[in-house]
Amino acid sequence: MNLHENQRLAKLSQSEIRAMTLACTQMQGINLAQGVCDTGVPEPVLEAAKQAMDQGFNIYTRYDGLAELRQALAERLKIFNHITANPETEITVSAGATGAFHCVCMGLLQPGDEVILFEPYYGYHLSTILAVEAVPKFVSLQGNDWNLSLDDLEQAITKRTKAIVVNTPANPSGKVFSKEELQAIAEIAKHHDLFVFTDEIYEYFVYDQRSHVSVAALPGMAERTITISGYSKTFSITGWRIGHAVAASRWASMIGAMNDLVYVCAPAPLQYGVAMGIHELKPTFYEGLLQSFQRKRDQFCQVLEDIGLAQFIPQGAYYVLADVSRLPGTNGKERAMYLLEKTGVAGVPGEAFFQGNDGARYVRFSFAKTDTDLDVACERLKTLV
Ligand SMILES: Cc1ncc(COP(=O)(O)O)c(C=O)c1O
Repeated sequence: MNLHENQRLAKLSQSEIRAMTLACTQMQGINLAQGVCDTGVPEPVLEAAKQAMDQGFNIYTRYDGLAELRQALAERLKIFNHITANPETEITVSAGATGAFHCVCMGLLQPGDEVILFEPYYGYHLSTILAVEAVPKFVSLQGNDWNLSLDDLEQAITKRTKAIVVNTPANPSGKVFSKEELQAIAEIAKHHDLFVFTDEIYEYFVYDQRSHVSVAALPGMAERTITISGYSKTFSITGWRIGHAVAASRWASMIGAMNDLVYVCAPAPLQYGVAMGIHELKPTFYEGLLQSFQRKRDQFCQVLEDIGLAQFIPQGAYYVLADVSRLPGTNGKERAMYLLEKTGVAGVPGEAFFQGNDGARYVRFSFAKTDTDLDVACERLKTLV
């Protein structure tokens, strides 16, 4: 038989997150492996999407998104991110931030281009880079608080480097890059003439009075920064598949062409729902979201501390990398399975976020759970001591 798996697929590893979810379901455990918010969808978002179907928003939208949504995003980008984006030419609405990132990589990278990824990384970033036959180059964040070494970053850059991927707040580490760090990355990108692809999907999950800084808002960065984000997390609509990429028009046209090719457009009535949510939800919504997630973080991290698995308290996003090196096992997978069997709580083995063996001492938990589920998970984890 001459039919076989293609090389592109062979490079991708099966998602550990799905594998743990499966094992968890079999054991009827509490799934803290997947980053799915179990919290409710805000009423204006739901209502507007329902109305949109009734009112006939059921056909293709423009390839780069519904006018109402591009306009709402442009307003939000101005107020929250300090980014000026023309809704006619610089915003592409896609199938989630995942679709947006894929279109960015397909539209702007050539096979063989090198792309810098900070480690620990988000697995989809790596897989997408591989899928477009670009070459990932890893720069490890260092120490217990995931410090960025600018020397390491400089050293990773070659003549073939095309882009640096930033994810702030970061999955899985919970690191929020400081303004100084982002400025330093920006200077390096300008010096070497590189793109910055910045995934800011957790922009509203930034704790302890920190502020979210968008790379594109830094001086001289609008031209070379592609900002990827979306409302999957903020509005708890991961299944709706609405996200976006923001870029200078010459890049946006390439990203948009890829979006048209793969998706034609994002789901029309759901785009409308998100647009109305952005319009109608007041600052108190975002403040409430933040407070509730900061409380979940504090509750969960306190338990990790009590059972001796704590390392870095997340500054943003809603994941925590627990240091499980004291648990039996030789790698993250064995330790995650040990935890699942002992407590019925599932996390993702650290290997999913690192090259080599550095992930062996970590399991990633998501605390984006309802209070009830989080309480149960905490009680179960406490039985470990
Ligand atoms: C860093 C990061 N980017 C993107 C996504 C996915 O976003 P979306 O559902 O909008 O595709 C996730 C989800 O876990 C994520 O952690």
